[in-house]
Amino acid sequence: MYTESDLEKINTELSPPEEEPERQYFYIDMCRRYLLEKEKEKGRKLTCGVFTFGCQMNFHDSEKIIAILQQIGYENIDSEDADFVIYNTCTVRENANERVYGRLGQLKARKKKNPDSIIALCGCMMQEEHVIKKIRESYSYVDLIFGTHNIYKFAELLYTRFISERQIIDIWKEAGGIVEELPVQRKFSFKTGLNIMYGCNNFCSYCIVPYVRGRERSRKPEDIISEAERLAGEGVKEIMLLGQNVNSYGKNLKPEITFAELLKRVADIDGLERIRFMTSHPKDLSDELITTMKEQKKICRHIHLPLQSGSTRILQKMNRRYTKEDYLALVYKLREAMPDISITTDIITGFPGETEEDFKETLDVVKTVKFDSAFTFKYSKRTGTPAASMDNQVPDDVVKERFDRLLLAVQEAANERTGRFEEHVKPVLVEEINEHNPNMVTGRLENNTVVHFAGDASLIGQIVDVKLSECKGFYYIGEIINK
Ligand code: SAH
Ligand code: SF4
Ligand code: F3S
Repeated sequence: MYTESDLEKINTELSPPEEEPERQYFYIDMCRRYLLEKEKEKGRKLTCGVFTFGCQMNFHDSEKIIAILQQIGYENIDSEDADFVIYNTCTVRENANERVYGRLGQLKARKKKNPDSIIALCGCMMQEEHVIKKIRESYSYVDLIFGTHNIYKFAELLYTRFISERQIIDIWKEAGGIVEELPVQRKFSFKTGLNIMYGCNNFCSYCIVPYVRGRERSRKPEDIISEAERLAGEGVKEIMLLGQNVNSYGKNLKPEITFAELLKRVADIDGLERIRFMTSHPKDLSDELITTMKEQKKICRHIHLPLQSGSTRILQKMNRRYTKEDYLALVYKLREAMPDISITTDIITGFPGETEEDFKETLDVVKTVKFDSAFTFKYSKRTGTPAASMDNQVPDDVVKERFDRLLLAVQEAANERTGRFEEHVKPVLVEEINEHNPNMVTGRLENNTVVHFAGDASLIGQIVDVKLSECKGFYYIGEIINK
């Protein structure tokens, strides 16, 4: 079996292995040999830039792409001037798509200057037929296009492009099996994401994700635990368990396992100090999960619990399967179990048929719950979703006016909530040197709030106690207590 460390031993005269991930390690090596030749030709190292749109899931996928590119021999320069540029796209709202088309347009001139350069596209947008049609017609200079289900084949696809010099498009309508043990390059050495499941079965009526990410598939608990143990062994202190709806983890596994049981097993791993998860769907949030969060100190006192709307009538049209009262009851239970918990959310304004009365229900929930922060979105029509063909689409000016009012309400509550730890001493995981002041460092509280305080690079990756001296709206200025 080929593994990462066997790269040198791979006999590339042989035909590629059928098994995964061995097959991909074979192609990584083939690509590396090809790139070495190119380096000799050009007399310099070749460079890459990976640009990611969308959610944590996409950012984690990009870490896999970066790892493969680095193993192949590319130097990651985070610039669109690179020899290999890839956009990992998102299509959850129309503006995410527009940004990609805009950036692609600008790359055309760069490609003229460096005709050997390679442009690739992957991610959720690529799973939509109309997008592929548009790229074929208007962006023929894109070299390689693949989707969300075959990302593990990236090395093989890239090699095909290297040797064929034609546009390669490979999109799978459905997901195959889950391929384990591919390389990952972490952005931070001390914290990372870990997929526990892929896809989504919920079909919220506005949302494209189930169409572009496929049906829900949970990874086996033993694969998750062994990856988490390996990460802890490599010095990772904080892990974010990722899935579109982590609360339904394990329902399609045999034997079944609940998300709370998985969390307990992850929390038992020595070395891990903070465990986060995203995203929780309110309809599946169990009492068992609340109790587990309360009992396991390593699980961060933070939950991202998308509300979407405060109107039960609209929630029903959204196919969210909870009511305003259900949502408020959950918040109450969470706060009763953990009074210091931070609750964050996502809210959409302007869903088809949303009236002023419905919107006021949303404002009412925002004012009642007082979220620690909230992502607010204007409803965006996604082709193929049930909501796209619903009557009474809300006019843009009405959506904008409601969005502005919502933002004000959200900010007011968030300011009040964020500041509640002023003068407290709290553990902070230090992430980096402060962007603006080299004598300061920046880190995060358990609830993800940013804290800046005096310190140096030796603190990066450590969890230290910091006095939160002053709240400046959505972040704190603090003072280190011990080292
Ligand atoms: N699985 C997560 C959400 C993933 S998408 C969940 O169910 O909570 C992230 C957010 O994008 C959603 O919570 C929703 O608020 C927003 N969103 C999704 N589709 C949208 C659309 N068509 N228009 C506007 N916002 C949308
Ligand atoms: Fe989209 Fe709903 Fe699935 Fe979240 S749960 S990804 S909003 S369909
Ligand atoms: Fe976007 Fe795909 Fe995530 S559509 S929000 S990147 S799952």
